[in-house]
Amino acid sequence: MEKIEWDDVQRLVLSGYAGLPFSAYLFWHFVPGEVDAAKRWLGLLADRLTRATDRGSKQAVNLALTAHGLEHLRVSDSVLHSFSLEFLEGMAPKPTAETKFPRRSNILGDLGDSSPEFWEWGGWTQRRDIDGMLLLYAAGESELLSLVEAEINAMAGTEPTARQNGDPLIIDGRIYDDRKEHFGFKDGISQPVIEGSPKANGRKRGRNSDDADHGKKLTQEEKRILLVKAGEFILGYKNERRASISDVSVTKDSATRDIRRNGTYLVFRQLEQDVPAFNEFVAKTAERIYGLADESAREKVASLLVGRTREGHPLVPIERPPEADPRNDFLYYFEDRFGMACPIGAHIRRANPRDTIGPDADTALRLSKMHRIIRRGRPYGERLDTAEGRTAGKQATRGISFIALNADIAGQFEMIQHSWLNNTHFGGLYAGTDPLGHFSCARDVATIQDRPTNHYIDRPRPFVRVRGGGYFFLPGIEAVRALTT
Ligand code: HEM
Repeated sequence: MEKIEWDDVQRLVLSGYAGLPFSAYLFWHFVPGEVDAAKRWLGLLADRLTRATDRGSKQAVNLALTAHGLEHLRVSDSVLHSFSLEFLEGMAPKPTAETKFPRRSNILGDLGDSSPEFWEWGGWTQRRDIDGMLLLYAAGESELLSLVEAEINAMAGTEPTARQNGDPLIIDGRIYDDRKEHFGFKDGISQPVIEGSPKANGRKRGRNSDDADHGKKLTQEEKRILLVKAGEFILGYKNERRASISDVSVTKDSATRDIRRNGTYLVFRQLEQDVPAFNEFVAKTAERIYGLADESAREKVASLLVGRTREGHPLVPIERPPEADPRNDFLYYFEDRFGMACPIGAHIRRANPRDTIGPDADTALRLSKMHRIIRRGRPYGERLDTAEGRTAGKQATRGISFIALNADIAGQFEMIQHSWLNNTHFGGLYAGTDPLGHFSCARDVATIQDRPTNHYIDRPRPFVRVRGGGYFFLPGIEAVRALTT
């Protein structure tokens, strides 16, 4: 098996920093004409970056750069063009006289309310291009504030990007104790396991580990379903096609080292969630299907839209010991081929169809491993506490700071978004898109398979809206150093 240079990989690849529930994403740009100062700052920052091997840190600092940022650092044309086209183009390329609506926005379904025309940042109307982002994590709120302040003070040749009102563009991310996102579902359960990672090797986690995920030994079945080759997530290693993507050079010689090695692409999307509208839709649907909208009927409908209960248990029929953690070692083909338990169009079934899309179940599972992402997103904004019937904060905006890591944005994140979540014919359906998605189509229905007939529930509008986003590169530590020379 390939040996992965974990000490050169930023820790975000291995860990969602569950033990550091407070986070801030700080967006910045280089100050024109101050390249040397910026390079000195980057050199010092490289020493502070949290590596995959730094377990149990009390805080974490990771760094991601945009193509515009790399250009500013004056990397050669040949190096710049070794990065993928979609990264170079960015998530929201500006319209031109020939292309009124850029292809990439169409692929992502960033239309209507979610068009980059209306984004708060990263879209078509902002004056500043973003050059990079610091991802900052801490155990408590005050520790996070100190970390943000310290990092802003350390900046040289670089400054935080400002919002329209002049405030720095910082988006928060927060893991709550119950690990639920704003619609009320436990999140961050299903992740691919990287072959060659400590989790794949069943290594025990340290006492103060920042990663709640690993520690348990994987069963044979979990390995079959969840293990994915490192090259799907880290550049320079073999992927599920048994090739190294873009033929990243493996030389360790610093002069000829490929700056993509040990890095990965990071997709950031600020996805605003309209929680009251989602709750209303769930209640109305419960009324329609079950004739009443009590808590248990609402719970049932909500779980059918996602494919897991709010506590995270999958709907496919597998044993669920009481009090057990939600399981992730399930497939669909033999367990629930026709979607009678977990609707075919449910969010998790679209986002990872596991063994259902292909000529047979085994091939389908192999193919699905070519389209996985590591999710590192977290909720942002104040929580709408419906449990106590409180309405405080109803007007506040909230959502997910969605982060996906992958070695091939087009083949992984964009493929999932375009061909599965936004696809009205996903898995043989006739209409509708992802119930949690931002994209809507002419006949916007959620199909819930049932006997004697299916339910077709009209969705009034998407409950999620894209407010900003960008494609970034999360470089290896040596690559950050190489960029400073
Ligand atoms: C506001 C928007 C979103 C919300 C509220 C949301 C929520 C959830 C929840 C509750 C789960 C189940 C928990 C888990 O398996 O970890 C989940 C799983 C997942 N989501 Fe999302 N999600 C959103 C957007 C997206 C987007 C845009 C993508 C990809 C383009 C995505 C990809 C996935 C994937 C890959 C899984 C795991 C599926 C599996 O392996 O079974 N999600 N999401």
